[in-house]
Amino acid sequence: MRIAVFGANGNTGSRVIAEGLSRGHDMTAIVRDTGRAGQVPSGAVLQAGDAARVEDVATLARGQDVVIAATRPAPGKEGDHAIMMRALLAGTVRADVRLLVVGGAASLIVPGTGGVAVIDDPRFVPPEYRAIAQASNEQFAACLADKDADWTYLSPPALLEPGERTGTFRRGTDELVVDDNGRSAISMEDFAIALIDEAEQARHRRARFTVGY
Ligand SMILES: NC(=O)c1ccc[n+]([C@@H]2O[C@H](COP(=O)([O-])OP(=O)(O)OC[C@H]3O[C@@H](n4cnc5c(N)ncnc54)[C@H](OP(=O)(O)O)[C@@H]3O)[C@@H](O)[C@H]2O)c1
Repeated sequence: MRIAVFGANGNTGSRVIAEGLSRGHDMTAIVRDTGRAGQVPSGAVLQAGDAARVEDVATLARGQDVVIAATRPAPGKEGDHAIMMRALLAGTVRADVRLLVVGGAASLIVPGTGGVAVIDDPRFVPPEYRAIAQASNEQFAACLADKDADWTYLSPPALLEPGERTGTFRRGTDELVVDDNGRSAISMEDFAIALIDEAEQARHRRARFTVGY
């Protein structure tokens, strides 16, 4: 497959590129500044583009089978998350290409609480993470509000961090995946497996799913 990743020099995006390359896909790594692409694995085609610009998204998406959004706004610019999301949705519609989104956990429901959202549970979202959690809820809302795009939103568990590629994790839909010790986590390497699986299998079109140990 031909897969393009926005945010390819980021922690998650670079691992998504590595996972795609390991499966033999043609990976395009999109960064804002090609002079700052040190985390992009070799073997990917490097391109410059801004996820907040519809024209860039449409141009770079053309000819791809899937576009993956792994962007994160800078601290203090959380409002950019929804702006990027709307541009990614509009640009992929123009190019007629599927869009997979590295989302947030904030909008998931905490199991056993009768419907409390992750963003409202300080065990998972301490005050210092509230701004990015709110931004990721706005990102998800932009997907839900879109009428045309072929999107899939993959919510991570509470912790999404660099780690090991184990290949073993659980999937869910709208409920946070939590292990027997109350921990909600996945490595970025395993998260990348779930994303590339979805690129290949398209099992959650215009829907959200989640993963965790
Ligand atoms: N539990 C959770 O809910 C959870 C936990 C962790 C992460 N996440 C989500 O996962 C996603 C990825 O996070 P991460 O930690 O991998 O991020 P990261 O390492 O900070 O990387 C983000 C990348 O986005 C790029 N970017 C920012 N604005 C852009 C734009 N307008 N156009 C193109 N690229 C742009 C940055 O590129 P530059 O180098 O050009 O700045 C950077 O490489 C985020 O949406 C984050 O909220 C969720």
